[in-house]
Amino acid sequence: MREEKIGVLCSGRGSNLASIIAAVERGDIRAEIAVVIADKADAYALERAREKGIPAVAVVYRDYAARADFEDALRAELSTHGVTLIVLAGFMRILTPAFVHAYAGHILNIHPALLPSFPGAHAHRDALSYGVKVSGCTVHFVDEGTDSGPIIMQAAVPVHDDDTEETLAARVLAEEHRIFPEAIRLYVDGRLQMDGRQVRILPCQ
Ligand code: GAR
Repeated sequence: MREEKIGVLCSGRGSNLASIIAAVERGDIRAEIAVVIADKADAYALERAREKGIPAVAVVYRDYAARADFEDALRAELSTHGVTLIVLAGFMRILTPAFVHAYAGHILNIHPALLPSFPGAHAHRDALSYGVKVSGCTVHFVDEGTDSGPIIMQAAVPVHDDDTEETLAARVLAEEHRIFPEAIRLYVDGRLQMDGRQVRILPCQ
C-alpha cells in the first residue's frame, strides 16, 4: 500500500483539522499530514498545524489576480509537499474544474448539512429557515459542482425548535469531528470503491 500524504486546505479555525491530526496521532489514519494550507494568513488552522510541527502555508486568495493563478500557487505547494490526498476541512472556496480534474477522486470535503440538501456557504441558516427537523453533515468526494460529489458518509442530528445557527452548528460539528477522520481512514486504507455516484465501503482485508 502506498503511503498517502495528506494536504489539508482550511479557511478558518481548523477544528476539523484538529480532529484529523488527533486521528493521525492515534494511528487511526495511517498517513502523514504533509502540509496545511489556508487561503487567509490569519487562519487559526495554520497555528494549530505549526504547534504540531506540520508545515503550514498561507496562499492568500486576494494576492492573486485570477482564480487560476491562486490555484496554480495551491498546486505548486501541494506538489512541493508530495500530496496525494487533498482534504477540504472548512475550505470556503470553490475549486475550478481544472483543479478538480487534476486530483480527480483524491479530494474529500466535509459539508455541514445532509447533502443534497443545503449546499453552499450558509448550510445551517438555510436548514433552519427551511424548517427541517433533522440536519447533519456529509463527507463526499469533490467533483466539478458545488457540494455535489459522490457521498462517502453522513451523520444526522436533530434540529430543535429553539436552535440558532450557533447551537445547530455546534451539534453538527461534533459529528463532523467523528465522521471526517473515519472517512479519511477508509480512503487511506483503500476501502472506498466508487461506482458512479455510489461509494461502497469495502470490508477490512
Ligand atoms: C465546518 O462546519 C465545515 O463543515 C464547514 O466549515 C466549518 C469549518 O470549521 N465547511 C463548509 O461550510 C464548506 N462549505 P473548522 O474550521 O472548525 O473545521
